[in-house]
Amino acid sequence: MVSSDDAKPLESAAGLVAELTMELVVELADEQATVEFGQHLGKCLQGGEVVTLDGPLGAGKTTLCRGVLLAWGHQGAVKSPTYTLVEPYVFAECTVYHFDLYRLGHPEELEFMGIRDYFDNHSVALIEWPERGEGWLPSADLSVEILLKDCGRRLCVRAETAKGRQVLERVRLQRKGG
Ligand SMILES: Nc1ncnc2c1ncn2[C@@H]1O[C@H](COP(=O)(O)OP(=O)(O)O)[C@@H](O)[C@H]1O
Ligand SMILES: [Mg+2]
Repeated sequence: MVSSDDAKPLESAAGLVAELTMELVVELADEQATVEFGQHLGKCLQGGEVVTLDGPLGAGKTTLCRGVLLAWGHQGAVKSPTYTLVEPYVFAECTVYHFDLYRLGHPEELEFMGIRDYFDNHSVALIEWPERGEGWLPSADLSVEILLKDCGRRLCVRAETAKGRQVLERVRLQRKGG
């Protein structure tokens, strides 16, 4: 079935590619824009999602997590849990686990942390430096990459699973004001 949306001319070929692979690319002019995008994303998470965050030190991964946590109701500071590796934020419906694996010595250490217990339908995992835990982490539903662009940032979110696609679809609708 062709919906009225499908009948509209496509914005661009790049737009079409982004549609098929379920990617969303946004330009974030300043820190506030990163926080706001995090809030959009946070509102669209339902629990049970694994979100990985890639990008160099200082890209804005933790800033994005602050936005996600704000959407869930956390008003306070958010620091990267560089030494503790994970920081839990407990909400009524869900616990958001913010991981920063930058200082993880060996991926196997995640096993000693009881890593499996962190992932269920009542938790959201936001994981900075996921490559350091390769082989010991569940696969991502959404992968976010943040790159430095001029004075701001370019963020790309890719849906890696059906669950991730649903989230990204909701983010799209919300950004359109739907
Ligand atoms: N869109 C943006 N444009 C410019 N600066 C940003 C943007 N988003 C975040 N920042 C800034 O970049 C830095 C990112 O820090 P942080 O979020 O801790 O990065 P990371 O967790 O990726 O190491 C902060 O100083 C923040 O103010
Ligand atoms: Mg960080």
